[in-house]
Amino acid sequence: MLMCGIMGYVGPQSIAEVLLGGLKRLEYRGYDSAGIALGTARGIHLAKRAGPLRVLEDEVARNPPPPASIGIGHTRWATHGGVTDQNAHPHLDCEGRIAVVHNGIIENAAALREELSARGHVLRSETDSELIAHLLEEAEGDLLHRLQAVAGRCEGAYALLAFDLRDGNHMCAVRRTSPIAIGYTDSEVFVASGAIALAPWLSRCIYLDDGEIADLWPGRVDVFRLEDLAPVRKVGHEISDSGDLPDSGHHRNFYVKELFEQPAAWRSVMRGRLGDADAVDLTDAGLTEGALRSVKRVQFLAMGSSLHASQMATERLLEFAQIPAAADLASEFRDTRSFLEPGTLAVAVSQSGETIDTLTALRHAQSLGARVLGLVNAPGSTIARESDFVFDLRAGTEISVASTKAFTTQAVALDLLVSALAAAHGRGYDPDHLAALRAAPIIAEDFLAEFLLPDDLVERCAKAPGVIFLGRGQDVSLAREGSLKLKELSYIWSEAFAAGELKHGPLALVDDRVPVIVCSTDPRHTTKLSSSLSEAVARGAYGVSVGADLRGTLHIGLPIQDATAAYLIGALPLQLLAVTVAEARGCSVDQPRNLAKSVTVE
Ligand code: F6R
Repeated sequence: MLMCGIMGYVGPQSIAEVLLGGLKRLEYRGYDSAGIALGTARGIHLAKRAGPLRVLEDEVARNPPPPASIGIGHTRWATHGGVTDQNAHPHLDCEGRIAVVHNGIIENAAALREELSARGHVLRSETDSELIAHLLEEAEGDLLHRLQAVAGRCEGAYALLAFDLRDGNHMCAVRRTSPIAIGYTDSEVFVASGAIALAPWLSRCIYLDDGEIADLWPGRVDVFRLEDLAPVRKVGHEISDSGDLPDSGHHRNFYVKELFEQPAAWRSVMRGRLGDADAVDLTDAGLTEGALRSVKRVQFLAMGSSLHASQMATERLLEFAQIPAAADLASEFRDTRSFLEPGTLAVAVSQSGETIDTLTALRHAQSLGARVLGLVNAPGSTIARESDFVFDLRAGTEISVASTKAFTTQAVALDLLVSALAAAHGRGYDPDHLAALRAAPIIAEDFLAEFLLPDDLVERCAKAPGVIFLGRGQDVSLAREGSLKLKELSYIWSEAFAAGELKHGPLALVDDRVPVIVCSTDPRHTTKLSSSLSEAVARGAYGVSVGADLRGTLHIGLPIQDATAAYLIGALPLQLLAVTVAEARGCSVDQPRNLAKSVTVE
């Protein structure tokens, strides 16, 4: 399964409560069904329900499980098989003594299903994950050896967690690509697909790396290499999240809360890196002057909003730092690049640090000889652990599926990186540019306190068949981000183009029902953008300019001249537009349909 949540526990506390508590903390990542399996004296007690976690909680409250000492739980995001109680995890073997939860996709599921059915196994779901329980049933040895053997038979990406009633009070977990965090006390052991789920009970955890398998006992965790069960020594990591349940406070949802947290997040990413002196210090990321000087090219690897921030940085590296740079969709990079020039720094930009496309691209870049900088909001994440340098975003946990503060904070971080690279390559620092970055948080605060989105714009967008965003230079990536936010949150068809493309095709889409929103935060492009907007308005479009006044139907001014900071402030009305249109259309803001926060399978 994709992007699911895993939670497991062995110990004296109420197993159901711990499992449901952990799953609740993973809920924000997106899922469509949930389940738990508890090991009791009377066999495995299973509760699984399609729908939100509260449906499962109600079921557990109505039908309290018998006392148990071990259990695993799961939130599922459907891939193989529909959203049904039956397809929800955990899955059991034929005899009902082995329970399994799975994140990822088993790519050879069809062949395994055929084999298992032919050997008489009764398969109760349409999932690839259930096959694991039946494979474990057939395998020989203790649970650890059986899981090792089964992992060897599965192709694809996965994190698996299993227990067997006949194998004692322990669980085993194995990882190939999908994340697993583990922690324990003297009398307990916890495992989850993210450290955030462990935070109420633990302050430290270890992370399984790819190709590792773990035997989890209360008070003891043994980690081995999957291939030969050679013991592996693991390093503990702090769990930075508090144990509190995420709370949107006085804001109506997490998206709006995080949107308003942006100024604080920008201050946080600049702290210690951009002080009063006109210089940037990235030594905390390992980027010393020497390391920066050795960079000859930069290759950004990212997806979604993280790619948009990277595209902005590419423009600036090319233009101001005169360092060759490219930003590729991480998902395409592996298939299309067979070489990297010597001296390339690959920069993997990822809020979660777990996006599988970005992780795979990072590994590919390493295999082509590049050193990798991970720019992540989760310093314990897989991308951080596999990177040569780690730039911690420090934006605070982002709960809303649609990114706000992570995107703009990435833009600030990447701007610091661009400035540091430019300086290391003898181009010096631009004091005005750094001053604009320093001032951006306070300007954003004022803007957010006063800005009112014009009702007319919201109404037009809410009933539009589509919305077009345009930009030039850095504003192409801003337009893409505005368009992505609108489509994610409001489900309105939307596209972004470089304004120069308009006449080469997209103009055919424009009529009086289609708002055209032109991002214009870089004064150098005002004249050309103004022409593009006029062309759209001449075809009946409701023409909006954000930044410079391009004399369309509506203008949203930004209280700033410098292009760097205007980019950041320019993102704010676009983010607000997306949520306001979504609310006008009754859409679920924090968890848009079909989407998940952490995309851990290709
Ligand atoms: C959009 C959004 C996604 C992510 C993308 C990459 O609002 O949040 O497009 O930006 O899935 O995720 P990370 O940054 O975690 O690698």
